[in-house]
Amino acid sequence: MTTKIRVGFIGAGRMANLHANLIAKEPDVQIAAAADADAARSAAFVQKWGGVAFSDHRAMLEQARLDAVYICTPTTHHAAIGLDCLPYGVALYVEKPLDLDLHLARRFVEAADADQTLAMTGLQWRYSEAYRRAEELIGDEPIALVNLRWYWTRPPIRWMWDRALAGGQIVDQNIHLIDVGSALAGDITTVYAAYNEQQANHEPEFANWDGYALTMRFARGAVGVCAGAYALFPEIQFEPAADFTLRDCLVRITDKRVQRYTPSGVETWANTEPLHRGVNRAFIAAVRSGDRSHICTPLHNGLTSTAAVLAANRSAQTGAPINVAAFLAAESAA
Ligand SMILES: NC(=O)c1ccc[n+]([C@@H]2O[C@H](COP(=O)([O-])OP(=O)(O)OC[C@H]3O[C@@H](n4cnc5c(N)ncnc54)[C@H](O)[C@@H]3O)[C@@H](O)[C@H]2O)c1
Repeated sequence: MTTKIRVGFIGAGRMANLHANLIAKEPDVQIAAAADADAARSAAFVQKWGGVAFSDHRAMLEQARLDAVYICTPTTHHAAIGLDCLPYGVALYVEKPLDLDLHLARRFVEAADADQTLAMTGLQWRYSEAYRRAEELIGDEPIALVNLRWYWTRPPIRWMWDRALAGGQIVDQNIHLIDVGSALAGDITTVYAAYNEQQANHEPEFANWDGYALTMRFARGAVGVCAGAYALFPEIQFEPAADFTLRDCLVRITDKRVQRYTPSGVETWANTEPLHRGVNRAFIAAVRSGDRSHICTPLHNGLTSTAAVLAANRSAQTGAPINVAAFLAAESAA
């Protein structure tokens, strides 16, 4: 009999259910446990996917003999829970952003390194067919401009209305496009942002910015802009998009496809599977084989992308451009 990979979930809400749905079909994966601070949520989760329910992740780690853990709690718990997991030798899938506390996030990343933990950040765009094709299309070509756009509504999950808990739209959502931008155009060196609030969203409990405008410089020489909004409606038909302007060529990556615009016309390559399928396949393949080359968003990558988006928030709050590497060093200093 083959030994199954025993997987546990910490935080059994929306994302945990989405990932469980994608890995439950793997013949050698067993969803063995779920822990949620809300006991009704972990109970409902195991009812659907199997395993044992816990209300405390430490009890789950002690008792459930897990090989791998998905951390799907609200963002401000990611690093502390990650640190709690390390002594148990489990592989870790950590939802993005890595955390809102860069000091704790860096401590977690360094401790995971020291333990040689197989660990990744859930930045799923980088595992899509569209992204991989864009990597080939762009290659080492010089990039003039990166244009990132994600028009969205007030988040459907209420704790995300509070920027102290979720960080706002650039941190919580545009981080995916910013991560794609830095993967293809080089690290983001400088950010300069302006946000507004109470322009479109007047609900008193909406403790957030509603419009986001960011400019960026990338290590390979490109300049970039990133626009976000929490002011629209979910049905709006503008796909989130990352545009890369090369000489006589535009490469556009969305959650559904990649397109190349040249003087000869437009070529399109559509994704053949849901966006989160590839990232889950890669994580399970890495756990199954121990081969870390399946993972292209290790925790270090999550840390630099998280630092870039938190630096954008700092820039919007201070009105000054921020050097991302210096910001990460200062914020994460002991
Ligand atoms: N990769 C993506 O596309 C994507 C999309 C949405 C959200 N996210 C991220 O995933 C994470 C989870 O978001 P979600 O939409 O599933 O939220 P959610 O609110 O649906 O689920 C979070 C769950 O964590 C539980 N929880 C809270 N504190 C806990 C603790 N200390 N221990 C255990 N459980 C705890 C809550 O009770 C809840 O059930 C967030 O960091 C979010 O930014 C990622």
